[in-house]
Parts: sequence; C-alpha cells; structure tokens
Amino acid sequence: MVQFTDGVARRIIAAIKEQIHAGAYQPGDRLPSTRTFASEWGASRTTVTVAYGQLIAEGYLISRAGARPIVAKGLGAAVPAPSQASPPRHLSGFAQRLLALPRPAAMQPAQIADFRYGDLSGADFPVLAWRRAVNRVSLQRKKRLRYGDPQGAPALRAALQGYLWRARGITCSAQQIIIVSGSQQGLDLCARLLLDPGDAFVIENPGYLLARHAFAAAGGVARPVPVDRDGLMTDALPPARLAYVTPSHQFPLGSVLSATRRRALLAWATETGATIIEDDYDGEYRHDVAPIPPLQTLDPEAVIYVGTFSKTLSPALRLGYLVVPPSLAPAFVEAKRLTDRHTPLLEQEALAELLSEGAYERHVRSIRRTNAARRAVLLQALAEELGPMVSVEGADTGLHVVAWLRDVAAEREPGIIAAARAAGVGLYPVSPLYDPAGPRPREAGFILGYASLDLDAVKKGIALLAPLLAGQR
Ligand SMILES: Cc1ncc(COP(=O)(O)O)c(C=O)c1O
Repeated sequence: MVQFTDGVARRIIAAIKEQIHAGAYQPGDRLPSTRTFASEWGASRTTVTVAYGQLIAEGYLISRAGARPIVAKGLGAAVPAPSQASPPRHLSGFAQRLLALPRPAAMQPAQIADFRYGDLSGADFPVLAWRRAVNRVSLQRKKRLRYGDPQGAPALRAALQGYLWRARGITCSAQQIIIVSGSQQGLDLCARLLLDPGDAFVIENPGYLLARHAFAAAGGVARPVPVDRDGLMTDALPPARLAYVTPSHQFPLGSVLSATRRRALLAWATETGATIIEDDYDGEYRHDVAPIPPLQTLDPEAVIYVGTFSKTLSPALRLGYLVVPPSLAPAFVEAKRLTDRHTPLLEQEALAELLSEGAYERHVRSIRRTNAARRAVLLQALAEELGPMVSVEGADTGLHVVAWLRDVAAEREPGIIAAARAAGVGLYPVSPLYDPAGPRPREAGFILGYASLDLDAVKKGIALLAPLLAGQR
C-alpha cells in the first residue's frame, strides 16, 4: 500500500471515490487525463498520477496501457457511499449510555487567570529530579523490550507500599496495589468489576462527575446522597452495590467526613456487603487541619482506596493507583491486562525512583508550601476584593475552594462566566456537579482551582471579578 504524505493526493482520491459512489462516474467512464485533472485542481501531474495509482490498486479504476484509466464495474451508485446509505451501526448499551451523558466542552485557558480546577503549574514540576530518574531507568533498560506486569512495576508497588504507610498510615501488601493510568482508569475498572447494569451506586451530591459517569456508563443507577459540613449524610443510605466517597476532602464542597459518619458508612458497608470506593485525590494537601486516616485503614476488606499523582506531579502523566482488598486483586489485575496490558513502564519506573530516593516526598513538601501560599493569596483577595459578596467553602485542604455568591441566583452562572471570560478570567460553575434530578443550589457558585496560577494572576483574576460581580447584585 502506497503511503501518501501529500494531502492533495488524499483529497483527490476521496473526491473521485465520492463521485463514483454518487454515480457521477459510471462503470467504464474514462477519467480525465492527468494533465487536465492536474490543471483543474491546481495540483501537479505527479500528484494526480499517484492518486490514480492508488485508486487502481484499490480496484476503483482499471488501468489501460497508454490510455486514461476507466471506472471499474460494480462500484456505482448501487454501492452505498459509506456516509449515506449504510445502516446505522449497532452500538452497545454501554456506548448508548455513554453518549447520553453530558460531555464537557474543551476550552482554551482564559488569558489573565484561569481558575480551572485540575490544572497544575509547569513551574512546580520537579524537572531535575524527574529527568535524573528517567535517565537512571533508561540506562538500566534491558536489551529485550517486553510487556510489563499488568499490576504495575514491582519497584513502584514496593515504593508505594512504603510511601502509603508513611504518608497515610495504610498497611497493605504490594499484592494489593494496582498501578493505573490515572485514578479515572481505577474508577472505570471499579465500575466494570463491581457493577452490573441496574445495580445501584451511592454517590455524593454534589460530587465528582467523572466518577458518576464511569458508574452510570457501566449501567449503574445513581443514588445521590447529599453532603453537608460533615461530609456524606449517612443517616439514610439506600441499599447499593458500592459507594463512591471523598472522605478526606469532599469534592467539590471540601468537607471532611466526620468520625461518626465514617463509622456509620463502614457499618452500612458491612451490613449490605457494599464496597466503598475512597477517592483520596488530594490527600497530600492539608493546610489547616490534621491528617485524617483513610477509611481504608479502618476496614481494608470493605474499602478500595484510590490515589493519584495528578495533583502532585502532573495530570498529564496519567499515573494513579488502587489499594484493593486482597480478595479483589486478581479480578483487577486481569481487567487491567485486558484494558491496556499495563501503564507505561518508563514512567512507572521513574516514579519508583523518585519515591524510593525520597525526592517525591521532598517535592510534596515543597509543592504543599507553594499551594498554601496560593491559597492564602486567594483567600485574602476574595476577602479584600469581594468581601461579603462571597462565602467561601472548603478552604482547609486541597487545591480549590468553592465561592458562593451571596444573593446571586444560580441561573446567573452562565452570564457571569461569559462576562468573566471576556475580562480574561476563567470561572467554572458548581451546579453541574449536582444530581440533575435533585434540588439545585440556589446561589451561583464557582470552583476556584488555584494550583496552576502564579500569585499575581490569582490577585489580578479576583480583582477583575470584583466590579463584574458587584454589577450582578
Ligand atoms: C475527585 C477527583 N478524583 C480524582 C481526580 C484525579 O483524576 P486522575 O487521577 O484520573 O487524573 C480528580 C481530578 O480532578 C478529582 O477531582
């Protein structure tokens, strides 16, 4: 098969095929000479010759020595053009559920300050330590290039086992750790391994949309449970196969699940046989509160612990992990194998180096300070510029706060977002994170992620919002 680098040749081929399928060229019709075609298209004769050659190779045209090629038989209007007459492709139930879910719009970052939650600053990445680690593992590379362990590089799982014990008090074996390509893949594996279509799942309301979507796409039926200042309200948990929770820092409102509710949630799991998925997505960032032991440490048999390096290194690396109960490990390993064989090995091994030589923990200490400084500047700017116009929630831990606009109706969110963008500020609403069928927040609210911004941008962004929000009241 000829490889085309020439986009013009590709366009000529597509155009001729379209004409044949539409019946404009009938079997036996002669094509124009390469000279005529080339001048009509403003292309070179060589390009047209290449295009004709490809159509001959694919059986659309028949070459004739010294003469113009003709259209082959059996290709005319009777053969449906792929885009027109072909019957609708069958899509699985999974695909149909997937397409029914709302899709996020891709947006360019706003120019002056973009408060998009989830982005980090490139300036915070430990470039030198990472480069050293990559060099070291590249040099160790064996001649034979092989698939790795679907469960994750043994060196990384061993290093993580130690880190999790030191940082989060988790005692687990390396056999319980599954390295995944970001926690999203971990959530997707949980959905596929724990839910059958029609099974109920408990989800915080408001909550993390991509978790909800992973479970809903697998056919799960959402049972949204409200959250308050003590986290998930556990007094009336419905029966469900699993519960997805963010107990250390509720996403997005920021509360910490109280000790009483932790016990109630675990008791519910024991009674019903449900599995708890504990997403500790930003466990490294505690600004004003003491570290809270993960639920996993209280009941390692009932809890799947989900961790990510998206908040400390980069969301683009796609490195995360699960700590699963020993009985579930084989199913997770096999599902991971079928999904993508394994997470890219070079990155896993480089991360193992960072963890085992202490560079990761040094980096976490440094980035925690950097983000604490950003948070302090943000809170100060909000207080000085917006004062009583806003109430701020969830500032004790994590990389974002939620700012509610007092006495500004939630319906105003789109207008405020558009006006802010026009002023160079990216704002993101809280309301889409509420269950669509349940009660909506009354006031306009925004998730302000600050981890990608320098201090000046934080100040400028909030200052630009002040006159704009004052006009909304
Ligand atoms: C609640 C929650 N969990 C997990 C993640 C991280 O996802 P991943 O590890 O797939 O990048 C995020 C990122 O924004 C999040 O908000």
